[in-house]
Amino acid sequence: MSFWAAALFAFLALLLTSVLGGLYTIGVFRKRAPNEPPLDKGFIPWLGYGMNFKKNSTEFLKRMWKRHGDIFTVLVGGNYLHFVMDPCTYRQIMRESKEKIDFNTFGSIIVLNAFGFPTTDIHHKIVQIASNKYLSGKNLTALNQVMIEKLKTVFIQRQGSGEEKKSWQQDGLFRFSYKTIFQASFLSLFGMDPEKRVEGKENPKNYLTQCEELYEAFQKFDRLFPQMALGMLDSIGKEKSNKLKNYFWDILSIKNISQKYEVSRWVTELVQQMADVGMTEKMQTQFLLLLLWASQANTGPAAFWILAYLLKHPEALKAVKEEVEKALRETGQEVKPGGLSINVSLHTMKTPLLDSAVEETLRLTAGSIVFRSVMQDTDLKMADGKEYTLRKGDRLLLFPFVALHTNPEIYSDPHTFKYDRFLNPDGTKKEFYKNGKKLKYYTLPFGGGTTMCPGRFFAVNEMKMFVIMMLTCFEMELVNAEEELPPVNESRYGLGIAQPEPCWIRPWPI
Ligand code: HEM
Ligand SMILES: *[C@@H]1O[C@H](CO)[C@@H](O)[C@H](O)[C@H]1NC(C)=O
Ligand SMILES: *[C@@H]1O[C@H](CO)[C@@H](O)[C@H](O)[C@H]1NC(C)=O
Ligand SMILES: *[C@@H]1O[C@H](CO)[C@@H](O)[C@H](O)[C@H]1NC(C)=O
Ligand SMILES: *[C@@H]1O[C@H](CO)[C@@H](O)[C@H](O)[C@H]1NC(C)=O
Ligand SMILES: *[C@@H]1O[C@H](CO)[C@@H](O)[C@H](O)[C@H]1NC(C)=O
Repeated sequence: MSFWAAALFAFLALLLTSVLGGLYTIGVFRKRAPNEPPLDKGFIPWLGYGMNFKKNSTEFLKRMWKRHGDIFTVLVGGNYLHFVMDPCTYRQIMRESKEKIDFNTFGSIIVLNAFGFPTTDIHHKIVQIASNKYLSGKNLTALNQVMIEKLKTVFIQRQGSGEEKKSWQQDGLFRFSYKTIFQASFLSLFGMDPEKRVEGKENPKNYLTQCEELYEAFQKFDRLFPQMALGMLDSIGKEKSNKLKNYFWDILSIKNISQKYEVSRWVTELVQQMADVGMTEKMQTQFLLLLLWASQANTGPAAFWILAYLLKHPEALKAVKEEVEKALRETGQEVKPGGLSINVSLHTMKTPLLDSAVEETLRLTAGSIVFRSVMQDTDLKMADGKEYTLRKGDRLLLFPFVALHTNPEIYSDPHTFKYDRFLNPDGTKKEFYKNGKKLKYYTLPFGGGTTMCPGRFFAVNEMKMFVIMMLTCFEMELVNAEEELPPVNESRYGLGIAQPEPCWIRPWPI
């Protein structure tokens, strides 16, 4: 079962306990009004398509799409869900006013379950303010610079002694990518521990060892996350997750953070803003754990996928490598294997092929959903000109992975990795169309509208810096070139970037 189907189900069940009677009646007697989307209640009263939906939401959606067209309403556990499968209409939905189509309720239940505090508009606003300032534009360039230095530190440290060299080679590609990104971006965002300094000087080994511990704990936390977010952990799981949370809360305590050095301005600003609105220190720390999770849980897996796709497609690897080396030469640098001395400044490097490969990776692996509540009767005009009314109290769901990212009307061979898919032969950016209509959004890995990921520019930059460093500083190949890439684990659809099923975690030489 995919995460979002399970989450939705848990969420709906929660809503229902209080209003069961009323909704039951509505569930039985509701009729499609003129102007409303096709309504499909299934055969079972109240539950509707609940079971089909839980079993395989992707397949269920495709079936309904075929039967009813680009917009339809299904009954799932007493709730009416509108699915919009026409990406040409996405933009309009994202831009609808809060009075008509709002977000929040759904996500806040997940946050409450997983992180133990209720989110409010204030949290959202604080993140927006800090991220607009420090995760975009010129200020992001400064953070990138820190990130690249930390990446180098991680690589140098791992190259270090024979023992470490061995353990690096024995890491699988997933672990290697995730861990590298985790360590480098944790240090870049959350700074370094003064106790790990020796006589006032930095000692990378010390703080990297601490980061490694943190990474291991984060993996355990992330594995529990789906069940935790659904409030479905058993008592053993609960005990484990509480232990892990306490561990992170210790490290992310405000007292601890304030003693660290080289904390990013993003985090400093967030802490400042939280204090300004009068949040308790405990709450600030709980919020920091959410931010740690949000900033780490998708980027590492995304870094894995792009490297895996490139290794699996040698022609793509070659083209991207040549492009990167050329771009570096244009900034007056020589590329030597094992060098680690290169200066990577993304804002001056033109890398259209790499950009396209990043977008292609996100297209194939991002299973994010957009969830909204209909606050008042709202008219929606579809791309084909038909108008529908969405009823107050219903829910609206977009699943771009099915309707957009892998839609064969938009992308040919939608499940194939084509690194230059987003470029025209002359190197300009490609435009994408559906039924002759140009798409404003042709991939939506970061969600959309007001809840769009505020870390998206940094995330893409992290992926690019990781690839650039890997391609210019190391020789790589797959241990077994015949082996297929692992399939995506569907149970994380709805949480962001997919993770591979654990079968391809193999040693690989440098
Ligand atoms: C490939 C990597 C990433 C992906 C695919 C991704 C995806 C997403 C998505 C889909 C959402 C919106 C969830 C919703 O609609 O409710 C989100 C929210 C968020 N993301 Fe990302 N993200 C990534 C990396 C990052 C990074 C690197 C950071 C920070 C440095 C970050 C920080 C956040 C935060 C703070 C939120 C919550 C925003 C709010 O509450 O308003 N993300 N992310
Ligand atoms: C769901 O159905 C799709 C076909 O649409 C199939 O590829 C996938 O393996 C199924 N997933 C599960 C978990 O059964
Ligand atoms: C970048 O950071 C500076 C210094 O903190 C801040 O004053 C400025 O507003 C930021 N730039 C943007 C575009 O927000
Ligand atoms: C601060 O973090 C360190 C690890 O970096 C941890 O060992 C320590 O317990 C934390 N201290 C407090 C007061 O939370
Ligand atoms: C990279 O930048 C640093 C400082 O900005 C400079 O000292 C160094 O020579 C540069 N390295 C290369 C290879 O250009
Ligand atoms: C998919 O991920 C879930 C949740 O992380 C995990 O419980 C499950 O074992 C994974 N499935 C496979 C086949 O690896």
